Amino acid sequence: MALTNREILLASRPVGMPTEENFSLVENSVPNISGGEVLIKTLYLSVDPYMRGRMRGVRTYVDPFELGKPLTGGVVGKVIESNHPNFKVGEIVEGRLNWADYSTSDGSNIRKVDPSIAPISTAIGAVGMPGLTAYFGLLYIGKPKEGETVVVSGAAGAVGTIVGQIAKIKGCRVVGIAGTEEKCQYLVNELGFDVAVNYKTENVLDSLKKACPNGVDVYFDNVGGEISDSVMTLINFQSRTVLCGQIAQYNDVKPSLGPRIQVQLIQRSSMMQGFIVGDFKERNEEGYNQLGKWVQSGEIKYHENIVDGLENAPKAFMGLFTGENIGKQLVKVSEE
Ligand SMILES: NC(=O)c1ccc[n+]([C@@H]2O[C@H](COP(=O)([O-])OP(=O)(O)OC[C@H]3O[C@@H](n4cnc5c(N)ncnc54)[C@H](OP(=O)(O)O)[C@@H]3O)[C@@H](O)[C@H]2O)c1
Repeated sequence: MALTNREILLASRPVGMPTEENFSLVENSVPNISGGEVLIKTLYLSVDPYMRGRMRGVRTYVDPFELGKPLTGGVVGKVIESNHPNFKVGEIVEGRLNWADYSTSDGSNIRKVDPSIAPISTAIGAVGMPGLTAYFGLLYIGKPKEGETVVVSGAAGAVGTIVGQIAKIKGCRVVGIAGTEEKCQYLVNELGFDVAVNYKTENVLDSLKKACPNGVDVYFDNVGGEISDSVMTLINFQSRTVLCGQIAQYNDVKPSLGPRIQVQLIQRSSMMQGFIVGDFKERNEEGYNQLGKWVQSGEIKYHENIVDGLENAPKAFMGLFTGENIGKQLVKVSEE
């Protein structure tokens, strides 16, 4: 009996906050593979904030999603058919594949996942792209030194949780900013952050002044907006601001304006640098290895928020903008 392949397509481009109407689910037959290709069954799918940018239809560092075509994103799956010499049936792979039950690949956009290192879902989380983002952004741009104060916004998410824990490993004072009391408790009690600030209930500037008596040496910015305006008033001489994400602006219809901070950067001889995780792709093996070791040793803990069912991927994606997730937001598409 022919298998059915469900796919989630971009039905229309969101204006402001994405809605269910921007997505559609279609059923097709499972694609046949040709020479050199593999057929992959999706086990876990990642929803990531950067995908909102790809829905705009404008080319940035990555191509936009096309209307009426399947969305693509981080997938962990199992090879179920193979015409490729390097991938065997039964192996677990990770790559940027379709939001679908099944995808094909010519092998160029997938890598093997070693299930003995950590649960395979971490290949799109703590030991995957978000982990690498935290690792490269913090260590190669933020360059934290022992005893320094590191502030991270979006602290309870996939990237933020790893940033804070790496900063602790490096001997820093770590202050996280997140949107619920539960997230703040998790950061302090489970992950060892020194302080967590709830930006929805506290005056962020007042709380940060108390939490950072020696100012801010490294700011790892996942969110931007008014939260970052507050952090930037506390940056130290020769501090480093790592621009990782600006989720507070991703659904803006008109650009929002904030304080002009150039003078502050000059007066404090301070550095601000944006980056994309792919800038460091030559060092990916180093990152995967180190993150894998830290996860295995328990020095890095991770949490996954798992939504069941491919059909719920749009809802899981939208939940990123309302803060539904602690740690990495995943969609479980099929049993391992
Ligand atoms: N530069 C790169 O290569 C790269 C790679 C990966 C990710 N990123 C960026 O890094 C950031 C974090 O990504 P992630 O995958 O780890 O996502 P995530 O933090 O797991 O999920 C998004 C979180 O952002 C917070 N948030 C949503 N809207 C917000 C707003 N208006 N103001 C403040 N916080 C808001 C929510 O938590 P609260 O409950 O705390 O609000 C939500 O849980 C994103 O900006 C993403 O685009 C960049």
